[in-house]
Amino acid sequence: MYQTSFLPPLRDHPKLVTASAPGKVILVGEHAVVYGRPAIAVPVWERVARATIQPGAAGSGCWIVAHDLRRRIHLADAPPEDAMALVARATLAELGLPPNPDWQIELNSEIPIASGLGSGAALNAALVRAIHAQVGCTPDPAQVSDLVYLGEQLYHGTPSGIDNTVVAYGQPVWFIKGTAPRVFTPAKPFTLVIADSGVASPTHETVAGVRRRRERDPQRYDRWFDAIGELVEEARRVIEAGECEALGPIFDRNHALLQQIGVSTPQLDHLVTAARDAGARGAKLSGGGGGGNLIALVERASAQPVAAALEAAGAIRVMITTVGA
Ligand code: MEV
Repeated sequence: MYQTSFLPPLRDHPKLVTASAPGKVILVGEHAVVYGRPAIAVPVWERVARATIQPGAAGSGCWIVAHDLRRRIHLADAPPEDAMALVARATLAELGLPPNPDWQIELNSEIPIASGLGSGAALNAALVRAIHAQVGCTPDPAQVSDLVYLGEQLYHGTPSGIDNTVVAYGQPVWFIKGTAPRVFTPAKPFTLVIADSGVASPTHETVAGVRRRRERDPQRYDRWFDAIGELVEEARRVIEAGECEALGPIFDRNHALLQQIGVSTPQLDHLVTAARDAGARGAKLSGGGGGGNLIALVERASAQPVAAALEAAGAIRVMITTVGA
């Protein structure tokens, strides 16, 4: 049972370190990215996860308290399949530190849990950074990404690696599985409304569903993945040229392809239509689908009306983010 009062007492003058990592959304290319096509993801700095470490009592060992997950983990006792413990252990080992230091690690997140905004990856990225900070090091983003990926494999089975990459780099990334990511700055900022459908949909399930359907008809699925890959190339061109309004129709075409591969739902389609009707330039589901989030490209002035229309259409949470500001 989750109770912070069970924690061992702190020493009198603890050294305290804090680190953070952002949420994320996939801009274009989800699912096809699992099959080697490119994708673009962007951080959502309006919502972050934070990790704080302070020394605990001598002999207390390492406690990780993840408040939003309502979890408290004693590192020495956590099972190998615990993703957060796995990432902590791998980070300690990489730094040549003892496996169970007398630390109290607190994790907090503004990123809604299990909503496709990368809360698990962001918490683990903040954890990795805080462990480094505790011993006076700053890890490079590639190190953070590799360590967080270990946890993603437990959460998601066969992740492409895009989620850990974008939260670790904290910048827009162009990503192809198995290659070094390329971070970039859009030539002009653009605004997104992110809306949560309120339907929990674990990514590993939607990814497994696509895999099963593709096994039955690989050629058709590969054609759809190729078409998504071409849209991602087009998205990169328009973002780099500062022609962000052209992203709207790209979102719409990407959503249509995601419908074809079977990861949209009538509710997501309804919300996408509501965003477009309220003045969005384009909208699509974002992430695994089957529920979770959608993103709508908006003019700054229409962000609030589109957000209000999405709430009226049933979204349980709406946020506005500017990419490249
Ligand atoms: C999840 O954010 C994105 C997916 O493409 C899965 C992955 O890339 O691992 C659905």
